[in-house]
Amino acid sequence: MAMTTELGEQKQLKEVAGIPLQATTVDNWSQIQKFEAKPDDLLICTYPKSGTTWIQEIVDMIEHNGDVEKCQQVIIQHRHPFIEWARPPQPSGVEKASAMPSPRILRTHLPTQLLPPSFWENNCKFLYVARNAKDCMVSYYHFQRMNQILPDPGTWEEYFETFISGKVPWGPWFDHVKGWWKIRDRYEILFLFFEDMKRNLKHEIQKVVHFMGKNLDETVLDKIVQETSFEKMKENPLTNRSTVPKSILDQSISPFMRKGTVGDWKNHFTVSQNERFDQIYREKMEGTSIKFCMDL
Ligand code: A3P
Repeated sequence: MAMTTELGEQKQLKEVAGIPLQATTVDNWSQIQKFEAKPDDLLICTYPKSGTTWIQEIVDMIEHNGDVEKCQQVIIQHRHPFIEWARPPQPSGVEKASAMPSPRILRTHLPTQLLPPSFWENNCKFLYVARNAKDCMVSYYHFQRMNQILPDPGTWEEYFETFISGKVPWGPWFDHVKGWWKIRDRYEILFLFFEDMKRNLKHEIQKVVHFMGKNLDETVLDKIVQETSFEKMKENPLTNRSTVPKSILDQSISPFMRKGTVGDWKNHFTVSQNERFDQIYREKMEGTSIKFCMDL
C-alpha cells in the first residue's frame, strides 16, 4: 500500500514556467539550473520519444570507434547523465554529470528556455534529434501507458487532447522543436531528424562523426550502422530497457523498443483527428521554416 502511494506521488507533474515536469525534477530545480557545463561538453537534446536512445547508442559507438565491447559495459541510461533526472535517493543527473570526467556527453529533454544557462555561456555542442509530431505523440502515448512513474495517458482520444495542449511531461512538442530550430545557427548545433535516420542511417551517422570531430573508416561506419539498427537494439538488453523493473517500465503493456518506424500514426489517428491536428499544426508552427516528413 505504501508502495502504491509512493508511486502515485511520483506520477505527479509540477510546472516550471508553465512546462510540466516530473515533480522530483521540479523539487530539484535550483540544483539543475546551477549545473556547471564545461566548454567541451556535448549535450544530446531531444523531445521525449524522438530517438534519444538511438542517438545515444550511435554517439557512444562513435566515441568508442565502433568497439562494441567498450560500449556494452553499462546500460544505455547510465552512459550519458540525464541532466534534469532526479529520483532520490539515487544520485541526480547533475550529481552524476559532475562526477564524470571530461569530455562529457550528457543528455536532456529540456526546452531551450529551461536549459541551465551555463550550457549557453560555455558554447557547448548540442546534438538535437527531432521526430515528426504525429509519430512522437503515438510513441509517447504507448510510453506513458507502460511507464509507471509518469501520469496515465487515459484513452487515445484523451491523450490526443493532452498532447495537443502540451500538458505532457516536458511540455508542448511544438515549442520544443521550434525553440531548438530557431537557435540552430547561433550555437554549435547539429540538428537531425529521426526520419532522415530511418531513410539513410549511414549518412546521418557521418554527420555525427564529423560533428564530434572524429574520423572513422568505412568498415567502422558500416559496423555502427548494423549495431544501431532497430532489430539489434531491440534484442540488446543494454539498450532495450529490459533490466528496468516492471514497477517502473511495464513492457508487458508495451515494449520500450516498440516499432521504430515512420508513419505509425496512421494506425492511430482517425480521419477527423488527422484533419484537426493538421489545422492546429499549421497554426502552432506558423512562421517556422522547419519541415517534417510524416511518411517514408
Ligand atoms: P516507437 O515507440 O515509435 O517504436 P526515446 O529513446 O527518445 O524514448 O525514443 C523511443 C522511440 O525511438 C521508440 O519509438 C523506439 O522504438 C525508437 N527507436 C529506438 N531505437 C531505434 C532504432 N535503432 N531505430 C529506430 N527506432 C528506434
